[in-house]
Amino acid sequence: MEIETIDARQLPPEEARNIAELIAGVWPDPEKTIDFRQQRLLDMGRNYRGPDNQAPRLFVLRKQGQVVAHAALLPRKIGTAWGDLTVVGLASVCVDSRERGQGLGAMIVRPVFELVDQGVFGFSLFQTSPEVQPFYEKLGACVIENTFVNSFADDPHATPFWNKVIMRYPADGEWPVGEIDLLGPGY
Ligand SMILES: CC(C)(COP(=O)(O)OP(=O)(O)OC[C@H]1O[C@@H](n2cnc3c(N)ncnc32)[C@H](O)[C@@H]1OP(=O)(O)O)[C@@H](O)C(=O)NCCC(=O)NCCS
Repeated sequence: MEIETIDARQLPPEEARNIAELIAGVWPDPEKTIDFRQQRLLDMGRNYRGPDNQAPRLFVLRKQGQVVAHAALLPRKIGTAWGDLTVVGLASVCVDSRERGQGLGAMIVRPVFELVDQGVFGFSLFQTSPEVQPFYEKLGACVIENTFVNSFADDPHATPFWNKVIMRYPADGEWPVGEIDLLGPGY
């Protein structure tokens, strides 16, 4: 199986549909229909104005034409004690429940972390659940304990993340302490 990389700025609607179907199957939610998730994917690249090598993109793995694994790469500027940093966010990482435990999850996340290894981004920053935390630890990420806010939100002191665990990649090296402003909504 080969990883396909899709530039979010040129995501065809039918491709967004295939990915939205996988995401909706992994996280069933009557309020987040396939149409809604498809639109969210199509919106990902819409307002991006940064360099091409940091552009938002989607990684997919396909089996017999069906999308079975997906990860979204989101470039994000964040405000930290070190000043503004551009980090790479990870979103909607998922593997079809029938295809788990074969290394596909690791395969789909690695290209994002490789961009950090190559210096395209300084860090990856993302949220996850306590159940999935060990999966990311195996890939070289670690939990961080900063407070997160979004200064643009109605409540600028509330955390913009909804999962309990916030992680960064790589686990080694320095990381800014104190509050971090996501300068936008959680992902
Ligand atoms: C998390 C998820 C993407 C992992 O995908 P996967 O294809 O099953 O994972 P892999 O087979 O690539 O696992 C890679 C390694 O992580 C380990 N691992 C995977 N899930 C794990 C878990 N929940 N806890 C502990 N270890 C885990 C595997 O055992 C494997 O270890 P190994 O390298 O020593 O063999 C998949 O379970 C999933 O889609 N879950 C539901 C959606 C979700 O929660 N996504 C994460 C959002 S942040």
